[in-house]
Amino acid sequence: MDFSTRTAAAEAVKADCIAVGVFAEGELTAQARAVDAASKGALRAAVKSGDATGKRGAALMLRGLAGIAAARVLLVGLGDRKEFGDKAFLEAVRTAVKGSGPAVKDLAVAAADWLPAGRDSLWQARQLVLAAREVVFRADELKSKKEADNGGPERIVLVLTGRDAAVDHGLAQGTAIAGGVELTKRLGNLPANICTPSFLADEAKRLGRSHKLGVEILDRRKIEALKMGSFLSVAKGSAEPPRLIVMKYEGAGTKGKNAAPVVLVGKGITFDSGGISIKPATTMDEMKFDMCGAASVFGAMRTVAELKLKLNVIGVVPACENLPSGTAIKPGDIVTSMSGQTIEVLNTDAEGRLILCDALTYVERFKPAAVVDIATLTGACVIALGEVNSGLFSADDALAEELLAAAKAAVDPAWRMPVQDDYQESLKSNFADIANIGAPGKAGAVTAACFLARFTKAYPWAHLDIAGTAWKGGPAKGATGRPVPLLTEFLMQRAG
Ligand code: BES
Ligand code: MN
Ligand code: ZN
Repeated sequence: MDFSTRTAAAEAVKADCIAVGVFAEGELTAQARAVDAASKGALRAAVKSGDATGKRGAALMLRGLAGIAAARVLLVGLGDRKEFGDKAFLEAVRTAVKGSGPAVKDLAVAAADWLPAGRDSLWQARQLVLAAREVVFRADELKSKKEADNGGPERIVLVLTGRDAAVDHGLAQGTAIAGGVELTKRLGNLPANICTPSFLADEAKRLGRSHKLGVEILDRRKIEALKMGSFLSVAKGSAEPPRLIVMKYEGAGTKGKNAAPVVLVGKGITFDSGGISIKPATTMDEMKFDMCGAASVFGAMRTVAELKLKLNVIGVVPACENLPSGTAIKPGDIVTSMSGQTIEVLNTDAEGRLILCDALTYVERFKPAAVVDIATLTGACVIALGEVNSGLFSADDALAEELLAAAKAAVDPAWRMPVQDDYQESLKSNFADIANIGAPGKAGAVTAACFLARFTKAYPWAHLDIAGTAWKGGPAKGATGRPVPLLTEFLMQRAG
């Protein structure tokens, strides 16, 4: 799908279809009024007859209107003008793309008036691309027959009332972010028999070639040499060898305030059975999504490289499988992390933190400006926040505020949760420096974050628990691509 702009009167735009907006109670937008005037009242007639309601999500297609250059006019319901916010705008874009139908290859969108309060034209153009690409995304890579309606319109033209370079900039940003989101979805959706740790390593090399990233893959021997005893203890139960994947993007030049890198660390458990502390069978298939944190690092790296951000960014992914077997780690086993801290593994299903802690120690060598880890870490986070917000944990108020602002701007919401030392109490072990779980049923998302906090003393750090937001279950099962929009917004702000 290709996006562009055209400065023209709506009635004069040649296209298979032009989408125009109507608010609740039949109030036409300015561009819709122009189309109405040129068609001698065809739009007002549709409103008056009750065919066009202006309700959010409603759409009415009119064909062959005299005086209109486009073959079709799609009346898109925008809902109440006073309540027109981010959600209403995104829904209007989805309605326009879905409602344009299979015969429409060229879709013009007259969205000049579809501007939520507090948003500008750059934001609008960017979010339009993301919403439109969301609608046409299909996870059909492994289906022998692809769906016929695949693709939607080939071209979408934003119809502007005056020249505005910010819109073209916004379309380019949206395209780069959508590319990252779709890579994240694709990797997330792939099953664990295909998307193994070595597969992810190959994907990193591929991304490195296509987007000029420096990529280094550490195999088991190198991971052993680094003394990552905690990471290796999770990998032990599987015949699939672990990988530590490092991707480097250098956009800051040699000097300057952005030279110290932002480091993203993503949980890459390609399948989480729970290990010896095995999970119940229902919905266990969804544990192929336990590498969505890693996938979001891939997606963010792709977008950052595509946007050529003036910033250094390093992505680090510890990847392995968590399986039960004769060689698997057992409850009660004690392992030594790369940091030297010993860990009593009371539950082998709390494995995410065991691979992340060694990756978080590893990244100290980059002297990071900030480290953000992204992980489908706890079921407790799903209970606390559901599918709406990612959990944001950071003891650094400035970094937390930065990430929350990015979440708002990107419409990829996050909610701040505590990481106080008071919770460390529950991670006490009688036999090791720390246990890998806290008290059952008590603040599980927080104690997981507090576990990670012990390994992040050398730099400003934040943790995103995306267990509730990275994928959807049920009939709409699939990876969401979150929190790539949040991460890329944060990095764009940092790059200035
Ligand atoms: N990958 C899971 C977290 C998860 C569970 C995400 C369900 C999404 C849906 C993680 O490795 C895990 O199993 N965590 C345990 C921790 C517990 C043993 C302390 C959990 O949340 O149950
Ligand atoms: Mn687990
Ligand atoms: Zn897990």
